[in-house]
Amino acid sequence: MSIISKDISKAVALLTAEDIVAIPTETVYGLAGNIYSEKAIKAIFETKKRPFFNPLIVHIPSIDELSNIVEHIPAKAQLLAEAFWPGPITLVLKKKGIIPDLITGGKDTVAVRVPNHPTTLELLNRLDFPLAAPSANPFSSISPTTAQHVETYFKDAIKMVLDGGACTSGIESTIIGFENDEPIIYRLGSKSLEDIEAIVGTIEIKNSVKSQTEAIPDAPGMLERHYAPKTKTILTTNILESINLHKNKRIGLLTFQSEIDHPNIEVQIALSTSGVLVESASNLYDVLHQLDKMHLDIIIAEEFPDYGLGKSINDRLTRATKH
Ligand code: TXA
Ligand code: MG
Repeated sequence: MSIISKDISKAVALLTAEDIVAIPTETVYGLAGNIYSEKAIKAIFETKKRPFFNPLIVHIPSIDELSNIVEHIPAKAQLLAEAFWPGPITLVLKKKGIIPDLITGGKDTVAVRVPNHPTTLELLNRLDFPLAAPSANPFSSISPTTAQHVETYFKDAIKMVLDGGACTSGIESTIIGFENDEPIIYRLGSKSLEDIEAIVGTIEIKNSVKSQTEAIPDAPGMLERHYAPKTKTILTTNILESINLHKNKRIGLLTFQSEIDHPNIEVQIALSTSGVLVESASNLYDVLHQLDKMHLDIIIAEEFPDYGLGKSINDRLTRATKH
């Protein structure tokens, strides 16, 4: 029997009983539990096979709850929250004492956001605790953007996926930390750099990590190999050259908008035939899930334009190439 359901009351009951439930957001599906329940939080880490040093994002129903979670709200954090919540930015701020260390990987900061999805906003409003929710995928694999993706990953491990349809933004939230009250991007994501800079001015990006074993960086989840299909994946600026290099293989081609006529291509998918970056972002993970099921030898992905959500898409595609 399917674990997918639209029943918000059932999700309320499970979460109140310290169980975990997969929930929809505008970015990707999350694997959610009560932030104050050690049992639920441990179940999230175990289900994902995620290392405990990698902290979770706390989801709250509105900006009004922020001061219950964090000690200090820098002026630029307030501006960003007012501009973009509910929506796909996560703020990393000094935590209050009540936030368990298990959520923050022992750090003195906590990541918080107000997700922009009607089902999950209603769920959060009906609960009297915030929800910790990492993306609902096994550690290092492709994030889920439909309830079916989550079911495929976790049907034997969790009781319910709250169905909210396909995620509209399709890649994770943009994570913004603060050093001396100045914002710094820890993870590129569904809110473009340009939109963020329009609110707070020029902003530094610190989102690359050299290896999986490196000591805890500012955003410990930003390991290089992440969001990765099982199929070998390469990123290229020259599609035809890459096809010729791999011409005896079964090739899957992922492009921005172009369609290539070439006998060696087994399957090709353009993320937006009309060349819209927002549409490409919303399709990216679903297309990677589809290509990964086709037993191809290689996925050749085209590099996206380096602006707007193109930057965030290139970040995820680069991580997908690390095996
Ligand atoms: O769009 C999203 O952000 C989705 C949905 C479900 O909200 N969530 C998500 O969670 O992508 P997750 O766990 O896959 O990624 C959270 C990232 C990790 O890279 C983690 O290291 C970072 O947030 N993070 C969490 N707390 C942090 C902290 N205190 N300091 C720095 N980075 C933190
Ligand atoms: Mg994740």
